Amino acid sequence: MPVISFVSSKGGVGKTTSAVVLAGEFAAAGRKVVLIDADPNRPLEAWARLKSTPDTVRLMIDDSAETIIDTIEEARANADFVIVDLEGTATDRIGFAIARSDLVLIPLQSSVLDASEAAKSVKLVHQMRKVANRDIPYRVFFTRVPPAIRERTARDIDRQFSDAAIPVLPATL
Ligand SMILES: Nc1ncnc2c1ncn2[C@@H]1O[C@H](COP(=O)(O)OP(=O)(O)O)[C@@H](O)[C@H]1O
Ligand SMILES: [Mg+2]
Repeated sequence: MPVISFVSSKGGVGKTTSAVVLAGEFAAAGRKVVLIDADPNRPLEAWARLKSTPDTVRLMIDDSAETIIDTIEEARANADFVIVDLEGTATDRIGFAIARSDLVLIPLQSSVLDASEAAKSVKLVHQMRKVANRDIPYRVFFTRVPPAIRERTARDIDRQFSDAAIPVLPATL
């Protein structure tokens, strides 16, 4: 079943929040979801302790680069969708998770720094396509977008992504 990974080498861009929101949407649609917490800070474990999660959402904790592929494959066998929440620093584990993903989602806020971090993640996806010898679809998407106005920086970043043929999701968080 499809594996969706949230990737960014930058912390605080909204990976964990988006992973939880997406898992909630799939669960609300009656789908079985496994959420993999692959961040040593264990944000999803903390989240699951706050409130009981729906029966259709199962949390798996992954410990390291050595285990991530097996964790993903085990989850894949047990769910309609697997969502992987990764750490915010560049590690081998992120590369391995990308190589096993059917879709990579890269969140960013509309800042120049976030855009350059997102571009690094895109580069990593391109490298992992070569490793896995297959296409690995990915999309970048904006988080913490002000509801009314799209500021100039956001529009500039949009244009740069478009010039570089980097696909941007119309959905924002
Ligand atoms: N769309 C959003 N609007 C407001 N706050 C957000 C949004 N997305 C994330 N946050 C907040 O930003 C912080 C970092 O988000 P988080 O999902 O933990 O990022 P990451 O997993 O990339 O480190 C959290 O406190 C989270 O509640
Ligand atoms: Mg996180």
